[in-house]
Amino acid sequence: MTSDRYFYYKDNELYCEEAEVSKIAESVGTPFYLYSKKSIVYNYRNIDRAFAQIPHLICYALKANSNLNICKILAEEGCGADVVSGGELYKAVYLGINPQKIVFDGVGKTEDEIIYAVKEGLLLFNVESYQEIEIINKIAKRFKKIVAVGLRINPDVDLDVHPYDATGIGISKFGISFEDAIDVYKKTKKLGNIKIVGLHAHIGSQITKLEPFIETTSKLISLAEVIKEIKYIDIGGGLGIPYGDEKVPTYSDLARLIIPPLKKLNVTVIIEPGRTIVGSSGILVSKVLYFKKMKEKNFVVVDAGMNDFVRPGLYGAFHQIIPLTERQGEEITADIVGPICELSDFLGKNIKMAKPEVGSFIAVKDTGAYGFSMSSNYNARPRAPEIIVDKKDFFVARERETYKDLIKTERIIKEI
Ligand code: LLP
Repeated sequence: MTSDRYFYYKDNELYCEEAEVSKIAESVGTPFYLYSKKSIVYNYRNIDRAFAQIPHLICYALKANSNLNICKILAEEGCGADVVSGGELYKAVYLGINPQKIVFDGVGKTEDEIIYAVKEGLLLFNVESYQEIEIINKIAKRFKKIVAVGLRINPDVDLDVHPYDATGIGISKFGISFEDAIDVYKKTKKLGNIKIVGLHAHIGSQITKLEPFIETTSKLISLAEVIKEIKYIDIGGGLGIPYGDEKVPTYSDLARLIIPPLKKLNVTVIIEPGRTIVGSSGILVSKVLYFKKMKEKNFVVVDAGMNDFVRPGLYGAFHQIIPLTERQGEEITADIVGPICELSDFLGKNIKMAKPEVGSFIAVKDTGAYGFSMSSNYNARPRAPEIIVDKKDFFVARERETYKDLIKTERIIKEI
């Protein structure tokens, strides 16, 4: 059985909601991403409920998966957006998300992006340096606006996550050091077109302990006690999900611990979850091309590669890999690898499974977050389509790229 309630086996066949996944695979071809609408809504509502006792706004982190339909499903639930680029802002605005529900994060906002965001009139810019504040102030002045900002604090907490996912530690590039925050606040107060109304921290991703969040929240609260104008405490995203059998705390567990101290301040809490909303809501479906028995190892070669899904190759991330059709058979241990010419092109290592038949389908689980959004055209491979299931129906939310798409922005230069 799979852990997410909307992906389950019935009569040995994997279902997503009420749709049989093999049938979808036969209809759309492989590889493809498949998402359950119900699962996305369920995950969102759980977080929303967790913070119900306090004024709050959930700003979905588009970087996890910015498929327009996923954002639309969430926007219809009342969710806002956390964007980190002009492109993400464009997508959020295109969908009609109210700019007053959008926060703009990121360590390297360009002037053009800032101009775009100032014109849209967002709820908050979460700023990461005093230089950035000066640039926003200059642009705000040009547009005769007062722009609301939150200070992103780097609280320098201990984190037990992949080093690439530890943004809230002292040596990372993110945020303003906790020790410098009051200084930055005082300098900013002298500027005419900026008002500091928020404090923000995003300490990392796939965090499976609550302590770092609690420590961070109490650091933000201690600053809010000094900076009286604070209306928003943005605790970022970053809580992990189980990728195997492990038990991972949820936003409800976190909310129970941080709501009491936050309630004492008269603030709206902002949460920026990505993975916890969409991670478990998606699978990547692929077809077995070959089974190779080598001297040292077995390899199952499938038609999805690291260009489709890079988390295993990039972070050594573990994802369960399951067949779409459960079958008995010789039990093997194999690496599941893709067609790309790199040894980092694997979806799973030392996976125990019934020996798969060539032509059968497999699913890489929990790939709704940082799956498609990190995919590429490496090896000139068209990117996979994204399909959304709603009850028994499925819809193409993004078409498979074609070979023509691969060259559409390139030009043959006659002069060279
Ligand atoms: N807010 C900010 C400012 C962020 O940088 C991120 C993620 C989030 C919110 C959402 O975090 P989440 O709830 O999804 O953990 N590619 C990596 C994860 C990178 C996360 C980057 N920032 C992975 O696949 O593990």
